[in-house]
Amino acid sequence: MIWLRRIRYALWGAVGIAGFLAMAIMLGWWTVDGPGARAIRNAAPASITEIGGPFTMTDQRGRTITDQDIRGKPTMMFFGFTSCPDVCPTTLSDMTGWLEALGPASEKINAVFVSVDPERDTVEQMARYLSLFDPRILGLTGTPAQLEQMARNYRFYYRRVPLDGGGYTMDHTAMVYLLDRDGRFTSTIDYHENRQTALPKLRRLLGAGSAG
Ligand code: NI
Repeated sequence: MIWLRRIRYALWGAVGIAGFLAMAIMLGWWTVDGPGARAIRNAAPASITEIGGPFTMTDQRGRTITDQDIRGKPTMMFFGFTSCPDVCPTTLSDMTGWLEALGPASEKINAVFVSVDPERDTVEQMARYLSLFDPRILGLTGTPAQLEQMARNYRFYYRRVPLDGGGYTMDHTAMVYLLDRDGRFTSTIDYHENRQTALPKLRRLLGAGSAG
């Protein structure tokens, strides 16, 4: 049932958000948008040391990609799996639309899709799946251990859920992370967030990238 799945994704989103808020409170930092947000946001990046760090994965062309390879440009990063029925294709379509809407500026941002399903998402499967979306989207997969390391450092959730009648699906964090050019976490775009708020976030990220 699609609506049941939606509720489950929403709940995982809530878990993720609760985690962020707890961390934000711990670090004395808050993500806000709207009036007064700028000063807080500008003060934020130096203290956000909790999300990010090393990873080593393989892209859809079979190349080894590490955190060092995405430095130098800001990054939008999303987590999911290629047999996802709903959230992942929607978000990858959104990402494709954002890249198009950014025009030439889209060359100055990384778009990354991280598979949380290493068992089924082989390099070949990632290549096949990502051919449906903007070719600049970098698809990362790896061994279970590589994924675990990345999830620990980037604080995203994933969980295997058995299906009635065999097989499984994956629950996963549904937010898009925004990282600055030094790989530091700055904010998120939520699942199904509309273009009117998503695009300004990306433009701000790009602006901060070229100024710093
Ligand atoms: Ni998904």
